[in-house]
Amino acid sequence: MDFEQIFGASPETEASAPGRVNLLGEHTDYNDGFVLPTAIPQRTTVQLGLSQDGQHHFYSVELDERVSISEGNHTPSGFASYIFGCVRLLEREGYTVPSVNLHVTSSVPIGSGLSSSAALEVATLRGLRSLLNLDIDDVRIAQLAQQAEIQYSGVQCGIMDQMASSLADTEHMLFLDTRSLDRQVIPFPSGAEVVVIDSGVPRTLAGSGYNQRRAECEEAAHLLAVKALRDITDPQAAEDLPEPQRRRARHVITEDNRVLEALQGVSAERFGELMNASHASLRDDYEVSVPALDTLVAMLQETPGVFGARLTGAGFGGACVALVAAGKGEAISREVMERYMRSGYSGRILVPEVS
Ligand code: GLA
Repeated sequence: MDFEQIFGASPETEASAPGRVNLLGEHTDYNDGFVLPTAIPQRTTVQLGLSQDGQHHFYSVELDERVSISEGNHTPSGFASYIFGCVRLLEREGYTVPSVNLHVTSSVPIGSGLSSSAALEVATLRGLRSLLNLDIDDVRIAQLAQQAEIQYSGVQCGIMDQMASSLADTEHMLFLDTRSLDRQVIPFPSGAEVVVIDSGVPRTLAGSGYNQRRAECEEAAHLLAVKALRDITDPQAAEDLPEPQRRRARHVITEDNRVLEALQGVSAERFGELMNASHASLRDDYEVSVPALDTLVAMLQETPGVFGARLTGAGFGGACVALVAAGKGEAISREVMERYMRSGYSGRILVPEVS
């Protein structure tokens, strides 16, 4: 149902934001480290208008769910909590946010590790910026979106997803130093394109496992007497730590080094090797992979024309990303998907967009 059917009036404004896929630099952002995401073609679109009855009304097309919130209501759950979080954060910044009608539609898959929540937060904040003429830039939008995520979903996430959704495009990679927020837009390795396949395994334990990893990294940084693991470049430095901090730190330090190497502008072959090493590190040292992701990644890595593949996002299920020879993304992803399905899994090709 469209905005008019739900709210009985036309929207006053509209905004959208993409999901993201991370090429390299996983679980580094909350260690003040380096990341290399790109936007995916799938986007979340919000339409907004002022509400006349003093209540916020949010409607999700995909969930066919409507949530109304009046002053004094408890925080809503589900999709509405992210939107409500954005409204609350703007209010805390000192902006007055009147009651709004907000209609959401999205092609970003939920639960695949492609930042559907960041896309919703960034689209919502862009929509409110446009509706209320707020003087707020794209970096601030990402920061507020991250706070909305932390405070309203309970995941102690870093800032990669929201920065990628707010600042990246589908034609480049966004190198981001998550401590200084310095960034650089860089091209994909020449002769290569990106493939994203959902493993079909929903992310479980994502919240608790994620927060636990984050705490282990903070312990490791504390034991090494640095502010964050980003301050260490030699993986040897972690060798005397107790387990699991030793392996967690080794992943983060080597992963930061992989991103910095990729930033130098390496060949597609070398970039692929870095992705393969990243997957092994996430699987063995960081322990955030699951059998379905390992199977899918191995199938991708074995396929001619694939430079490299790895799980992407937090892990615990969700999607894999691969770098493949330019022009071959569709054929390779179809071939791998058939093989993956024959093994008893049911996945989905997300990039390139195939019908
Ligand atoms: C999730 C978080 C990000 C980042 C990744 C792992 O997507 O939201 O901040 O930590 O996991 O790299």
